[in-house]
Amino acid sequence: MHAALEAEGIVVQFGGLVAVNDITLSLDEGEIFGLIGPNGAGKTTLFNALTGYAPMRRGKVSLFGEDITQLPAFVRARLGIGRTFQIERPFEELTVLENVLIPAFLHRARRSDAERVAWDALEQAGIADRAHQPSADLNLARRRRLELAKALSLKPKVLFLDELMAGLNPPALAEMIGFVRTLTKSGLAVLMVEHIMKAVVELCDHVMVLASGERIAEGSPEQVTNDPKVIEAYLGDSDEPGDR
Ligand SMILES: Nc1ncnc2c1ncn2[C@@H]1O[C@H](COP(=O)(O)OP(=O)(O)O)[C@@H](O)[C@H]1O
Ligand SMILES: [Mg+2]
Repeated sequence: MHAALEAEGIVVQFGGLVAVNDITLSLDEGEIFGLIGPNGAGKTTLFNALTGYAPMRRGKVSLFGEDITQLPAFVRARLGIGRTFQIERPFEELTVLENVLIPAFLHRARRSDAERVAWDALEQAGIADRAHQPSADLNLARRRRLELAKALSLKPKVLFLDELMAGLNPPALAEMIGFVRTLTKSGLAVLMVEHIMKAVVELCDHVMVLASGERIAEGSPEQVTNDPKVIEAYLGDSDEPGDR
C-alpha cells in the first residue's frame, strides 16, 4: 500500500533564500496532516511545491506511489490534488454554482455530470443554499466555503487547505471544522496550513512545525503544542498567530 502523498527531501530556493529546506512527509488516506509555524516559515511555499505551483530545487513528490515531481499543476489537479488558496479569488460576477462548475468541467465534459459534481461539492462545503447568488455578495465565511467547494469539485484524493479557517468567528469555525472532518471519513487525505490552534488540535492526526524553512518539530497535536522549541519559535509569541 502506497501513501496517498509522499514528499521526500523537498527544497525550494528563491535566489539566495532557502524557503523550504529538505522537508520529508507522508500522508495516508483519511489522514489530516497539519503544517504550522510562524509567518514566513515556508508553509505556503511547501504547499506550492507539492501542488506544482513553485519550482523545486530538489526532492520527489509521489501520489499513491506515482512520481508526479515533474508534472505541472493542472496535471496534478487532474490526478487528484485539490487545493484552496490562502487569498481566495472567486469570479465575482459569476454565481456560486458557476464558480464551482468551472473546476467540475475540467474533468466532466457533459453538463449534467459537471452539475452533479458541482452540487455535491456545494453540499459538502455547506453552501448549496447560496448556489444562485453572485459570489461578490458572500461574506468571509461563505467565501471560504466557496473556496472549499471549488477544490472539492475537482474530486480530489488529496486536499490542500491553506489557512481556510483564518478570520472565521467561533460558530463558522466550528462548522468548517465539521465539514473537513466529514470529508476525511470517505478516505480523502488532507494537508492543512492553519494558525487556528483549535482547528489543528481538533482535526489533525499529525502535525509538522516549520520555522525558517526547517522542520523544528513533528508529532501529535499534543506533542508539538507542548514542545518547548515550538512554544519558543511560534506559540509563545507575544504577537497573535496570523498571516494577515
Ligand atoms: N515567489 C517568491 N519569491 C521570493 N521569495 C518568496 C516567494 N514566495 C515566498 N517567498 C519567501 O519565502 C519565505 C516563505 O514564505 P511563505 O511560504 O509564504 O511562508 P508562510 O506561508 O509560512 O507564511 C518568505 O521569506 C517569503 O518572503
Ligand atoms: Mg502562507
